Amino acid sequence: MPRSTIALALLSLTLGCATSSGAPPADAPTAPTHVVTAEEQAAFLAAKAVFTARCLACHSRTGARRGPRALRHLDMTSYPFAGRHAAQAGAAVREALTGKKPSMPKGKPGSLTAEELALLLAWADAFDRGPAAPSMKPAERADAPPLDAGPGSGG
Ligand code: HEC
Repeated sequence: MPRSTIALALLSLTLGCATSSGAPPADAPTAPTHVVTAEEQAAFLAAKAVFTARCLACHSRTGARRGPRALRHLDMTSYPFAGRHAAQAGAAVREALTGKKPSMPKGKPGSLTAEELALLLAWADAFDRGPAAPSMKPAERADAPPLDAGPGSGG
């Protein structure tokens, strides 16, 4: 088993995520598998402006600086997020912002204000407290709020 598969499997166990059958092929589109709790929804709405201002330029399908790699990792165009890290989005964002080697926002890691950081981390915590959902089909998320970067959201 390649090391990346083991790491993914461990992560799945640790986080109790829904994909117990192993990692999907790298290029497979990742459907959201996460049920949004009321707490998480509230935390997301509180953090939404920060995501919009600091992340969506690259991580939204309509962002001014969008690219296939950012979208493949975490597609924030709508909520819940899609992409390879969708099932562990809370942990992935926390790691990218406050891990040993912060990497996001790309090119300017560490540039968030304390307030911005607190909102994103509160969202990540709420995400992690949610249930490990069996699945959430697109039809069941008709109320998923659009999260559009729009013009001039900067980077
Ligand atoms: C300037 C473009 C840009 C911005 C702004 C940006 N990202 Fe990214 N992000 C990327 C790219 C490109 C990748 C793909 C991995 C890489 O190239 O580092 C990525 C990957 C990620 C990943 C996966 C990390 C990994 O190592 O696999 C996470 C999580 C993430 N971004 C979160 C965020 C968050 C949260 C913000 C806002 C605070 C943000 N990003 C802002 C471009 C960006």
